[in-house]
Amino acid sequence: MALITGVAKRDGIGFATARVFAEEEAAGIAVLDIAEAVHDCPAHLGAHCTSHTADLTKAAEVQRAVDEALAAHGRIDVLVNNAGMVVFGQDEDFAAFQDMSERQWDFGIAINLKSQFLVTRAVVPHMIEHGYGRIVNVSSATGPVVANPEESAYCAAKAGVLGLTRGLALDVARYGVTVNAVGPGWVATGSQADGEDVGGLNTPLKRSGRPDEIARLICFLASDDASYITGQLVVIDGGNTIQEYKGPSELYY
Ligand SMILES: NC(=O)c1ccc[n+]([C@@H]2O[C@H](COP(=O)([O-])OP(=O)(O)OC[C@H]3O[C@@H](n4cnc5c(N)ncnc54)[C@H](O)[C@@H]3O)[C@@H](O)[C@H]2O)c1
Repeated sequence: MALITGVAKRDGIGFATARVFAEEEAAGIAVLDIAEAVHDCPAHLGAHCTSHTADLTKAAEVQRAVDEALAAHGRIDVLVNNAGMVVFGQDEDFAAFQDMSERQWDFGIAINLKSQFLVTRAVVPHMIEHGYGRIVNVSSATGPVVANPEESAYCAAKAGVLGLTRGLALDVARYGVTVNAVGPGWVATGSQADGEDVGGLNTPLKRSGRPDEIARLICFLASDDASYITGQLVVIDGGNTIQEYKGPSELYY
Protein backbone atom coordinates (compact mmCIF):
# COMPACT_ATOMS: atom_id res chain seq x y z
CA MET A 1 0.00 0.00 0.00
CA ALA A 2 1.08 3.59 -0.66
CA LEU A 3 0.52 6.19 2.06
CA ILE A 4 0.42 9.72 0.60
CA THR A 5 0.14 12.90 2.68
CA GLY A 6 -1.24 16.30 1.70
CA VAL A 7 -3.90 15.10 -0.73
CA ALA A 8 -6.99 17.18 0.05
CA LYS A 9 -6.62 19.66 -2.80
CA ARG A 10 -7.72 18.27 -6.15
CA ASP A 11 -5.25 20.54 -8.03
CA GLY A 12 -2.23 19.76 -5.83
CA ILE A 13 0.80 17.49 -6.19
CA GLY A 14 -0.46 15.03 -3.55
CA PHE A 15 -3.76 14.32 -5.29
CA ALA A 16 -2.00 14.06 -8.68
CA THR A 17 0.36 11.50 -7.10
CA ALA A 18 -2.51 9.48 -5.65
CA ARG A 19 -4.19 9.52 -9.06
CA VAL A 20 -1.05 8.20 -10.79
CA PHE A 21 -0.76 5.44 -8.16
CA ALA A 22 -4.42 4.57 -8.82
CA GLU A 23 -3.79 4.49 -12.61
CA GLU A 24 -0.79 2.23 -12.02
CA GLU A 25 -3.12 -0.04 -10.02
CA ALA A 26 -1.34 0.22 -6.68
CA ALA A 27 -2.48 -2.53 -4.32
CA GLY A 28 -3.92 0.09 -1.99
CA ILE A 29 -3.75 3.81 -1.34
CA ALA A 30 -4.18 5.64 1.97
CA VAL A 31 -4.48 9.43 1.73
CA LEU A 32 -3.87 11.66 4.71
CA ASP A 33 -4.49 15.37 5.28
CA ILE A 34 -5.45 17.83 7.99
CA ALA A 35 -8.50 18.85 5.94
CA GLU A 36 -11.80 16.93 6.01
CA ALA A 37 -11.94 17.34 2.21
CA VAL A 38 -9.51 14.40 2.05
CA HIS A 39 -12.54 12.16 2.58
CA ASP A 40 -13.75 13.08 -0.94
CA CYS A 41 -10.68 11.37 -2.45
CA PRO A 42 -11.73 7.68 -2.38
CA ALA A 43 -14.70 8.50 -4.64
CA HIS A 44 -12.19 9.67 -7.26
CA LEU A 45 -9.44 7.12 -6.64
CA GLY A 46 -11.28 3.80 -6.32
CA ALA A 47 -12.39 1.33 -3.71
CA HIS A 48 -8.87 0.38 -2.64
CA CYS A 49 -8.33 3.96 -1.32
CA THR A 50 -8.92 4.95 2.29
CA SER A 51 -8.82 8.49 3.68
CA HIS A 52 -7.56 9.67 7.07
CA THR A 53 -7.31 13.04 8.82
CA ALA A 54 -4.49 14.17 11.10
CA ASP A 55 -2.51 17.28 11.87
CA LEU A 56 0.88 15.94 10.83
CA THR A 57 2.69 18.27 13.22
CA LYS A 58 1.18 16.36 16.17
CA ALA A 59 2.76 13.02 17.05
CA ALA A 60 -0.33 11.39 18.61
CA GLU A 61 -2.54 12.30 15.62
CA VAL A 62 0.05 10.97 13.18
CA GLN A 63 0.34 7.66 15.05
CA ARG A 64 -3.45 7.25 15.15
CA ALA A 65 -3.80 7.92 11.40
CA VAL A 66 -0.93 5.56 10.47
CA ASP A 67 -2.43 2.86 12.72
CA GLU A 68 -5.80 3.35 10.97
CA ALA A 69 -4.16 3.02 7.55
CA LEU A 70 -2.27 -0.10 8.62
CA ALA A 71 -5.44 -1.66 10.05
CA ALA A 72 -7.21 -1.03 6.73
CA HIS A 73 -4.42 -2.22 4.40
CA GLY A 74 -2.14 -4.54 6.37
CA ARG A 75 1.18 -3.01 5.34
CA ILE A 76 2.79 0.14 3.94
CA ASP A 77 5.27 -0.30 1.07
CA VAL A 78 5.45 3.30 -0.10
CA LEU A 79 5.38 6.58 1.83
CA VAL A 80 5.10 9.90 0.02
CA ASN A 81 5.70 12.80 2.42
CA ASN A 82 4.04 15.54 0.37
CA ALA A 83 2.06 17.63 2.89
CA GLY A 84 3.48 21.07 3.55
CA MET A 85 3.79 24.66 2.38
CA VAL A 86 0.24 25.70 3.21
CA VAL A 87 -2.71 24.29 5.17
CA PHE A 88 -5.88 23.69 3.13
CA GLY A 89 -8.04 26.84 3.29
CA GLN A 90 -5.31 29.10 4.66
CA ASP A 91 -2.95 31.55 2.95
CA GLU A 92 0.81 31.08 2.98
CA ASP A 93 2.48 33.19 5.66
CA PHE A 94 5.29 35.20 4.01
CA ALA A 95 7.65 37.33 6.13
CA ALA A 96 11.10 38.81 5.64
CA PHE A 97 13.53 37.25 8.10
CA GLN A 98 13.91 40.52 10.04
CA ASP A 99 10.12 40.67 10.59
CA MET A 100 9.57 36.99 11.28
CA SER A 101 8.17 35.96 14.65
CA GLU A 102 9.23 32.81 16.49
CA ARG A 103 5.70 31.48 15.89
CA GLN A 104 6.06 31.92 12.11
CA TRP A 105 9.45 30.19 12.15
CA ASP A 106 8.18 27.28 14.27
CA PHE A 107 5.10 26.88 12.05
CA GLY A 108 7.16 26.79 8.83
CA ILE A 109 9.52 24.19 10.26
CA ALA A 110 6.65 22.18 11.75
CA ILE A 111 4.49 21.80 8.65
CA ASN A 112 7.37 21.35 6.21
CA LEU A 113 9.96 19.33 8.15
CA LYS A 114 8.71 18.00 11.49
CA SER A 115 5.62 16.58 9.75
CA GLN A 116 7.88 14.43 7.55
CA PHE A 117 9.84 13.27 10.60
CA LEU A 118 6.69 12.28 12.50
CA VAL A 119 5.02 10.39 9.64
CA THR A 120 8.26 8.64 8.69
CA ARG A 121 8.93 7.67 12.31
CA ALA A 122 5.51 6.02 12.49
CA VAL A 123 5.96 4.14 9.19
CA VAL A 124 9.62 3.07 9.11
CA PRO A 125 9.38 0.26 11.73
CA HIS A 126 6.82 -1.52 9.49
CA MET A 127 9.04 -1.17 6.42
CA ILE A 128 12.01 -2.54 8.36
CA GLU A 129 9.90 -5.46 9.60
CA HIS A 130 8.94 -6.33 6.00
CA GLY A 131 12.44 -5.69 4.62
CA TYR A 132 11.08 -3.37 1.95
CA GLY A 133 10.13 0.27 1.57
CA ARG A 134 10.18 3.27 -0.73
CA ILE A 135 10.06 6.72 0.85
CA VAL A 136 9.76 9.83 -1.30
CA ASN A 137 10.01 13.19 0.45
CA VAL A 138 8.68 16.25 -1.34
CA SER A 139 11.30 18.95 -0.86
CA SER A 140 11.58 21.85 -3.31
CA ALA A 141 14.14 23.59 -5.46
CA THR A 142 13.51 26.40 -2.94
CA GLY A 143 15.83 25.74 -0.01
CA PRO A 144 18.30 23.05 -1.10
CA VAL A 145 19.17 24.77 -4.42
CA VAL A 146 17.80 28.34 -4.60
CA ALA A 147 15.80 30.72 -2.39
CA ASN A 148 13.03 33.29 -2.49
CA PRO A 149 12.61 36.40 -0.34
CA GLU A 150 10.30 36.18 2.70
CA GLU A 151 10.58 32.38 2.77
CA SER A 152 13.57 31.68 5.00
CA ALA A 153 11.67 29.26 7.27
CA TYR A 154 10.34 27.38 4.21
CA CYS A 155 13.84 27.36 2.67
CA ALA A 156 15.37 26.05 5.90
CA ALA A 157 12.71 23.36 6.24
CA LYS A 158 12.98 22.17 2.63
CA ALA A 159 16.79 22.08 2.83
CA GLY A 160 16.27 20.14 6.08
CA VAL A 161 14.14 17.63 4.17
CA LEU A 162 17.20 16.87 2.04
CA GLY A 163 19.34 16.31 5.16
CA LEU A 164 16.62 14.08 6.60
CA THR A 165 16.48 12.17 3.31
CA ARG A 166 20.22 11.49 3.26
CA GLY A 167 20.56 10.60 6.95
CA LEU A 168 17.55 8.31 6.91
CA ALA A 169 18.68 6.69 3.64
CA LEU A 170 21.87 5.51 5.36
CA ASP A 171 20.05 4.24 8.47
CA VAL A 172 17.54 2.09 6.58
CA ALA A 173 19.44 0.98 3.46
CA ARG A 174 20.35 -2.39 4.99
CA TYR A 175 16.64 -3.14 5.46
CA GLY A 176 15.73 -2.74 1.78
CA VAL A 177 14.28 0.72 2.26
CA THR A 178 15.21 3.55 -0.13
CA VAL A 179 14.66 7.23 0.62
CA ASN A 180 14.73 9.98 -1.98
CA ALA A 181 13.57 13.56 -2.34
CA VAL A 182 12.04 15.49 -5.22
CA GLY A 183 12.69 19.20 -5.70
CA PRO A 184 9.96 20.81 -7.79
CA GLY A 185 10.44 24.28 -9.22
CA TRP A 186 7.45 26.37 -10.33
CA VAL A 187 4.37 24.14 -10.42
CA ALA A 188 0.90 25.24 -11.55
CA THR A 189 -1.07 24.08 -8.51
CA GLY A 190 -3.86 25.97 -6.75
CA SER A 191 -1.21 27.13 -4.25
CA GLN A 192 0.77 28.96 -6.93
CA ALA A 193 0.97 32.57 -5.74
CA ASP A 194 0.48 35.63 -7.97
CA GLY A 195 3.59 36.18 -10.05
CA GLU A 196 4.90 32.63 -9.64
CA ASP A 197 3.42 31.71 -13.02
CA VAL A 198 5.69 34.41 -14.50
CA GLY A 199 8.60 32.55 -12.91
CA GLY A 200 7.44 29.49 -14.81
CA LEU A 201 7.31 31.40 -18.12
CA ASN A 202 10.97 32.39 -17.63
CA THR A 203 12.28 28.85 -17.23
CA PRO A 204 14.10 27.29 -20.21
CA LEU A 205 10.96 25.22 -20.91
CA LYS A 206 8.87 28.44 -20.79
CA ARG A 207 6.12 27.17 -18.49
CA SER A 208 5.39 26.00 -14.99
CA GLY A 209 5.40 22.27 -14.36
CA ARG A 210 2.15 20.35 -14.02
CA PRO A 211 1.28 18.42 -10.84
CA ASP A 212 1.05 15.19 -12.86
CA GLU A 213 4.67 15.66 -14.04
CA ILE A 214 5.84 15.82 -10.42
CA ALA A 215 3.61 12.86 -9.61
CA ARG A 216 5.22 10.72 -12.37
CA LEU A 217 8.68 11.38 -10.90
CA ILE A 218 7.47 10.48 -7.41
CA CYS A 219 5.95 7.26 -8.74
CA PHE A 220 9.19 6.36 -10.52
CA LEU A 221 11.21 6.84 -7.31
CA ALA A 222 8.62 4.72 -5.49
CA SER A 223 8.84 1.92 -8.05
CA ASP A 224 11.14 -1.08 -8.38
CA ASP A 225 12.71 0.62 -11.43
CA ALA A 226 14.39 2.97 -8.93
CA SER A 227 15.75 0.15 -6.77
CA TYR A 228 19.39 1.38 -6.81
CA ILE A 229 18.65 5.06 -6.15
CA THR A 230 18.74 6.27 -2.56
CA GLY A 231 19.56 9.45 -0.66
CA GLN A 232 19.15 11.63 -3.76
CA LEU A 233 17.41 14.90 -4.55
CA VAL A 234 15.93 14.95 -8.04
CA VAL A 235 15.20 18.52 -9.12
CA ILE A 236 12.25 18.85 -11.52
CA ASP A 237 12.09 22.48 -12.60
CA GLY A 238 12.13 22.77 -16.40
CA GLY A 239 15.84 23.61 -16.24
CA ASN A 240 15.24 26.73 -14.15
CA THR A 241 18.09 26.28 -11.68
CA ILE A 242 20.73 25.59 -14.34
CA GLN A 243 20.36 28.89 -16.16
CA GLU A 244 22.91 31.49 -15.12
CA TYR A 245 21.34 34.32 -17.12
CA LYS A 246 18.12 35.56 -15.44
CA GLY A 247 17.29 38.52 -17.71
CA PRO A 248 14.75 38.64 -20.57
CA SER A 249 15.63 35.85 -22.97
CA GLU A 250 15.22 38.03 -26.11
CA LEU A 251 18.25 40.08 -24.98
CA TYR A 252 20.59 37.07 -24.85
CA TYR A 253 19.26 33.74 -26.18
N1 LIG B 1 3.30 24.11 -5.86
C1 LIG B 1 4.59 24.33 -6.05
O1 LIG B 1 4.96 25.15 -6.90
C2 LIG B 1 5.61 23.57 -5.26
C3 LIG B 1 6.96 23.72 -5.59
C4 LIG B 1 7.92 23.03 -4.85
C5 LIG B 1 7.54 22.19 -3.82
N2 LIG B 1 6.22 22.06 -3.51
C6 LIG B 1 5.87 21.18 -2.40
O2 LIG B 1 4.94 20.22 -2.86
C7 LIG B 1 4.08 19.84 -1.79
C8 LIG B 1 2.63 19.97 -2.23
O3 LIG B 1 2.40 21.29 -2.62
P1 LIG B 1 1.08 21.72 -3.41
O4 LIG B 1 1.43 22.95 -4.17
O5 LIG B 1 0.51 20.57 -4.13
O6 LIG B 1 0.19 22.22 -2.21
P2 LIG B 1 -1.25 21.86 -1.69
O7 LIG B 1 -1.63 23.04 -0.89
O8 LIG B 1 -2.14 21.41 -2.79
O9 LIG B 1 -1.00 20.61 -0.77
C9 LIG B 1 -0.54 20.68 0.52
C10 LIG B 1 -1.48 19.86 1.38
O10 LIG B 1 -0.83 19.63 2.61
C11 LIG B 1 -1.79 19.70 3.63
N3 LIG B 1 -1.16 20.03 4.90
C12 LIG B 1 -0.48 21.16 5.22
N4 LIG B 1 -0.14 21.14 6.51
C13 LIG B 1 -0.62 19.97 7.03
C14 LIG B 1 -0.60 19.39 8.32
N5 LIG B 1 -0.03 20.01 9.36
N6 LIG B 1 -1.17 18.19 8.49
C15 LIG B 1 -1.75 17.55 7.44
N7 LIG B 1 -1.82 18.06 6.20
C16 LIG B 1 -1.27 19.26 6.00
C17 LIG B 1 -2.73 20.81 3.19
O11 LIG B 1 -3.97 20.76 3.87
C18 LIG B 1 -2.83 20.57 1.68
O12 LIG B 1 -3.91 19.74 1.34
C19 LIG B 1 4.44 20.73 -0.60
O13 LIG B 1 5.30 20.02 0.27
C20 LIG B 1 5.18 21.89 -1.25
O14 LIG B 1 6.10 22.49 -0.38
C21 LIG B 1 5.25 22.73 -4.21
